[in-house]
Amino acid sequence: MENLKLLVCKWDELDLDEVSEFIYDNRVGIYKGASDSEGVKRHLSNIQERFPAEAIFMASRKGELCGWVALDRESESVAELGRWQPIVKKSDSEEEIVNLILKGVLDYAVRTGITRIESMFSEVSKDNDKEYEKSAKWFISNGFPKLEDNAYMTMQLESKDIESRSIPDGLTIESLESADYSDLYECYYESFVTGEDRDFLDMNDKQRKEKFDKSLHSHTINQHLSSVLKDGEKIVGFSFVLSRDNEEHVDRFGIRKAYRGKGLAKAHLLHVVRSAKEAGTPMVSIGVDTINSSAFNLYKNVGFEVDSRMIVHTWNLN
Ligand SMILES: CC(C)(COP(=O)(O)OP(=O)(O)OC[C@H]1O[C@@H](n2cnc3c(N)ncnc32)[C@H](O)[C@@H]1OP(=O)(O)O)[C@@H](O)C(=O)NCCC(=O)NCCS
Repeated sequence: MENLKLLVCKWDELDLDEVSEFIYDNRVGIYKGASDSEGVKRHLSNIQERFPAEAIFMASRKGELCGWVALDRESESVAELGRWQPIVKKSDSEEEIVNLILKGVLDYAVRTGITRIESMFSEVSKDNDKEYEKSAKWFISNGFPKLEDNAYMTMQLESKDIESRSIPDGLTIESLESADYSDLYECYYESFVTGEDRDFLDMNDKQRKEKFDKSLHSHTINQHLSSVLKDGEKIVGFSFVLSRDNEEHVDRFGIRKAYRGKGLAKAHLLHVVRSAKEAGTPMVSIGVDTINSSAFNLYKNVGFEVDSRMIVHTWNLN
């Protein structure tokens, strides 16, 4: 289209008022809840603090902003597109704007060593599933097929009685800090490669290791709740818990194949949840691909309830 241009810039170079107003005027998905552009601005600033954007892609026509997306780099080779983006000006050339932006994103990825981009649609519900379907088509046609249909599950702890389960003799739960890095990674890898988690299975080994390291070395990791399950000296299970506002989030959880089906994951998870409650945490959360039936059933069995749905599309150079 005539005069349609793409600009790639840094967060600091943005006119945040202009972008917030643009997003508010063309809002979809989670932005629907914003009552004004100031609300959008607060949301963007908050997201920027938690997941700093490495590059911003802005489409404009005759000098007027008509499309926007922010990309943050999770690790050397994995990046994430901000939730429910691109935001595109409602017009008859939406698809053209999206294609220009996503092409710019992919060119940038190839240039800077990104091999995987995850695009998230959080809080998908019957109120916004038509909007999701529309964005999904754009993503699919630009090389981002749907990968996961996740449930974000929560357990409110204040009024909850947490079942007590003992760990069989010979097994112990120890702090994550005490674990040897390579034993831990080996246990993590073996657990997930024999599981049903599509995110893990879709990645190459470099991407898997980077995601593991990111979680393990996160400055928000809760060392009190993060733990390993050991059989003697051997690590057989793990839980990585990250602290968020008023919530502890179980980020990685698993157990070696040979130890499954004996109630051990349930006992370990109950231990984590009980320790969180004792520490005064109001809520524990966990995200799971609903196709991962063993994990999904485990979390329901332990007492987690589905709070919302998050759909993930990925572009993967592998
Ligand atoms: C998910 C996982 C941790 C379950 O471990 P486990 O030790 O076999 O689970 P438990 O024996 O403690 O089972 C507890 C409950 O979970 C559910 N569950 C476990 N495995 C199941 C399976 N294969 N099918 C259906 N439900 C299952 C059941 O409700 C079970 O209770 P029940 O035995 O009374 O029916 C394990 O399969 C795993 O590590 N998977 C790979 C890594 C992974 O996907 N992690 C989760 C990412 S979100």
